[in-house]
Amino acid sequence: GKDGYRHYMEKELHEHPLVIGQTLQRLVDPASRTVVLPDMPFDLASVPRAVITACGSAFYAGMIGRYWLEDIARLPVDIDVASEMRYRNPPLTSGSLGVLVSQSGETADTLAALRSLREKAVHILSILNVEQSTMARESAVVLGTVAGPEISVASTKAFTAQLTVLACLTIATARARGTLDTAGEEALVAALLDLPSRAADVFTSGDAIRRMARVVAEARDVLYLGRGSMFPVAMEGALKLKEISYIHAEAYAAGEMKHGPISLIDRTVPIVASAPYTPLFDKTLSNLQEAKARGGRLLVFTDTKGADRVSAIAEDMVVLPHVHDFVAPILQTIPVQMLAYEVAVLKGTDVDQPRNLAKSVTVE
Ligand code: F6R
Repeated sequence: GKDGYRHYMEKELHEHPLVIGQTLQRLVDPASRTVVLPDMPFDLASVPRAVITACGSAFYAGMIGRYWLEDIARLPVDIDVASEMRYRNPPLTSGSLGVLVSQSGETADTLAALRSLREKAVHILSILNVEQSTMARESAVVLGTVAGPEISVASTKAFTAQLTVLACLTIATARARGTLDTAGEEALVAALLDLPSRAADVFTSGDAIRRMARVVAEARDVLYLGRGSMFPVAMEGALKLKEISYIHAEAYAAGEMKHGPISLIDRTVPIVASAPYTPLFDKTLSNLQEAKARGGRLLVFTDTKGADRVSAIAEDMVVLPHVHDFVAPILQTIPVQMLAYEVAVLKGTDVDQPRNLAKSVTVE
């Protein structure tokens, strides 16, 4: 049941801290505080590149995985949505690593992409929530997201669990490739192990998120902005808003705004930005300044280290705990999903069963 929550989505949002913790328990050895992945029939040290593919929210998780694998493991990564990847016929070196991400393990396009990568002798590593699924049976390695059943059509906890697995995969790959030393691994693992309690702290921001939701609920269009690993977080926020509140939303890499979308900005188009204090904070803030100068209303998700500077320009903000840059996209996902939820509640939509959508998309 819903355990007293209004919707399954609300219940599942509250499970973020738990599922991040459960997923880490499978992949981190508590004694050595190192990542331990299951045995694989190939060596992460020698894969020449990775190809990541998925649909919807799972694709955005994969995008964050790309930033991590490139930056920390120095592994070249190609990524595309599965409905494009399956027909792209990219030239691939055999022995590359295929990373497939799916909650259900049954998504038709992701399964077809898996098969087309396998035909090219790519090693298939799938990150799946349903471990008894078609994709699981066709993969060389399955890394489970220990999120439990997800009932709400809009994905929430499966997404942060996917990110947790991708973070561990990044650490293991980096170690195998010699781009991360012991001290480096310790710092990243410590940041991950700290996440469940930081994620629980996010729920103290409920009032601020509901205040933002009242502004967003009045809008016809909303722009979501972020840079670096916060860009896919913005995409996730925009998708969730469209999906359950039926308000049009678009996500842009903040630096791309001046190449077109800035002409949209006026008082009627709220701007939701994800801007924690990471190395891209200053760049993001200057993009937000530009939007504000054109009459944009800024609703900003930041953290304790960014709060002073954000408060000087934002109409409203949500202040999360400051965490290591590496895990910031995992933490920052939670409030953007909560915002979409609160807007949908205000709009009175069928939150758990949005129109025209199915939980598992088994047709092309
Ligand atoms: C968004 C959402 C969808 C799924 C997508 C992939 O909230 O739920 O975009 O993420 O349909 O589904 P899976 O992960 O089952 O392959």
